[in-house]
Amino acid sequence: MKYTQGIFPIAAKQAIAKNIYSFTISCPEVAQAAVPGQFVHIRAKGYTLRRPISICGIDKKKGTLRIVFEIRGEGTAEIAKLNEGELIDMLAPLGHGFTVDDSFGKVVLIGGGIGTPPMLPLAEIYGEKAAVITGFRDSSAVILQDDFKRTGAETILCTDNGSAGIHGFVTQPFGEIIEKEKIDLVCACGPMPMLKNIAAMCREKGIRCEISLEERMACGIGACLGCACRTKRNDEEYFAHVCKDGPVFNAEEVIW
Ligand SMILES: Cc1cc2nc3c(=O)[nH]c(=O)nc-3n(C[C@H](O)[C@H](O)[C@H](O)COP(=O)(O)OP(=O)(O)OC[C@H]3O[C@@H](n4cnc5c(N)ncnc54)[C@H](O)[C@@H]3O)c2cc1C
Ligand code: FES
Repeated sequence: MKYTQGIFPIAAKQAIAKNIYSFTISCPEVAQAAVPGQFVHIRAKGYTLRRPISICGIDKKKGTLRIVFEIRGEGTAEIAKLNEGELIDMLAPLGHGFTVDDSFGKVVLIGGGIGTPPMLPLAEIYGEKAAVITGFRDSSAVILQDDFKRTGAETILCTDNGSAGIHGFVTQPFGEIIEKEKIDLVCACGPMPMLKNIAAMCREKGIRCEISLEERMACGIGACLGCACRTKRNDEEYFAHVCKDGPVFNAEEVIW
């Protein structure tokens, strides 16, 4: 795993919803190495443990990465105080990403809430071949819809209370798509119950499904056993590191 630790300038900062921020970070070497599904590990001022945030945009020409994160606690609140022009301390790119394959036909990308950002670099790659299904609590939490539309992908928005898009969970339109089309790959990131349901639906239809798992992390590089998760390999139980073996796993390997 080739990663860099460094301090990089924030080229742009935007508040995109309540307590949700988008940072564009100028880091040419990291952007060059990054692939969809990987994450960056950020040091928040005054805290020893870094905070993992998914990569939401990779611009190899401009040498930038984009991240989108929500203030959940003290660490992310501290990171959100950083402004355009200031420096951010990052260890990146980390982890194992999603499969990218030009030979795939239709792919479905599914994001739930703040699990939506890592789907954007995939939508940029697959474009019109992709259907992007995103689900949020309500209209105030909806993010990245214009970005997804710009990729040329079909976009389907759901909210739990019907205040924007389809009233219901992402599994509803996903179920309709898999009934009528052949799907080569499903990629998903979001809450565990959502991932579990999607994995079960894919298993039933024999569709390859890759999911990005969230686990508490310390080192982020496979050195501390802080992020162990039960998986199976060749029918044997295996404690994987979410930071190094994941965060993206084949859903069939996960012990739910
Ligand atoms: C691979 C990965 C990708 C992620 N991508 C995103 C993203 O794109 N956008 C986004 O908003 N959030 C993302 N998260 C979640 C984000 O890392 C947590 O919200 C953040 O670490 C919380 O830190 P805090 O100090 O604000 O919260 P607190 O709850 O105050 O944190 C307290 C402690 O718990 C740890 N902690 C709490 N929640 C998590 C968590 N879920 N994962 C790891 N450590 C945690 C912190 O490191 C800290 O040590 C991702 C998590 C993982 C594992
Ligand atoms: S966070 Fe240290 S091993 Fe994964």
